[in-house]
Amino acid sequence: METPVPEYYEIFGEFRGILLDKRFTKYWDDVETFLARPDDLVIATYPKSGTTWVSEIVYMIYKEGDVEKCKEDAIFNRVPFLECRNEDLINGVKQLKGKESPRIVKTHLPPDLLPASFWEKNCKMIYLCRNAKDVVVSYYYFFLMITSYPNPESFSEFVEKFMQGQVPYGSWYDHVKSWWEKSKSAHVLFMFYEDMKKDIRREVIKLIEFLGKKPSEELVDKIIQHTSFQEMKNNPSTNYTMMPDEIMNQKVSPFMRKGIVGDWKNHFTAALRERFEEHYKQQMKDCTVKFRTEL
Ligand code: A3P
Repeated sequence: METPVPEYYEIFGEFRGILLDKRFTKYWDDVETFLARPDDLVIATYPKSGTTWVSEIVYMIYKEGDVEKCKEDAIFNRVPFLECRNEDLINGVKQLKGKESPRIVKTHLPPDLLPASFWEKNCKMIYLCRNAKDVVVSYYYFFLMITSYPNPESFSEFVEKFMQGQVPYGSWYDHVKSWWEKSKSAHVLFMFYEDMKKDIRREVIKLIEFLGKKPSEELVDKIIQHTSFQEMKNNPSTNYTMMPDEIMNQKVSPFMRKGIVGDWKNHFTAALRERFEEHYKQQMKDCTVKFRTEL
């Protein structure tokens, strides 16, 4: 028997100023009181910005390019998702507590909701972002394939929700702006998906150096090879096929979908694009961060 598709606001609710999955916020105390360790590395992103890609690169750096070690388990176990919670079935906090140092922590939280302990311990953080139009396209397909998520209706209706911040993690604009502010501090590295697509070598070297290691040519080559879109799409430990079908239905849309810059052009009508860009200008008018929407 198929489970009925839930209503939008049955699943998501307003929490401290943003929309979040109610299953995540139910035990928020566990997240808020999370104890960071000084050598934790935080990977923060707005959903669908290339989290899995940068996570695999960082994991490769930690394992000094040992591909076999990277294939030992699924990415969602190697790099636990801090605030992810579904009763006792999924518990990011618990997973992290059980990990040896140094831990890599995935989160989609804005800086003010990230447990204070990460700031107090001055942990290194990587914030990866991606242009809003490609994020909204990727998010739309993600909505279709996450079985517990409500139907996003048409693409243009989903874009409307995105613009109003009525999607999990709220306003993309606020998320980017607040992390951009944080990146003025040397322990936060601000990166762009588009830069990674344009020149992965340069970005991998940047990551290795940020983590205080030496970017040997051999290591950089191995990382680039192992984390290419095609390689990650074919790799069960990165393509989310180890996630049960009841959670992610990859027949509807694969997790490793297209991995390109500019897919928005295949989804936005001229009118929708105009509306989106006008709204974008307003939202981002005081922010100096500039995105590329094509390469
Ligand atoms: P698309 O849906 O546009 O293809 P996240 O990991 O934050 O959920 O982001 C998922 C997006 O990153 C998807 O975008 C996915 O295809 C893309 N992605 C994952 N690995 C990638 C890689 N190695 N190279 C380029 N894009 C990648």
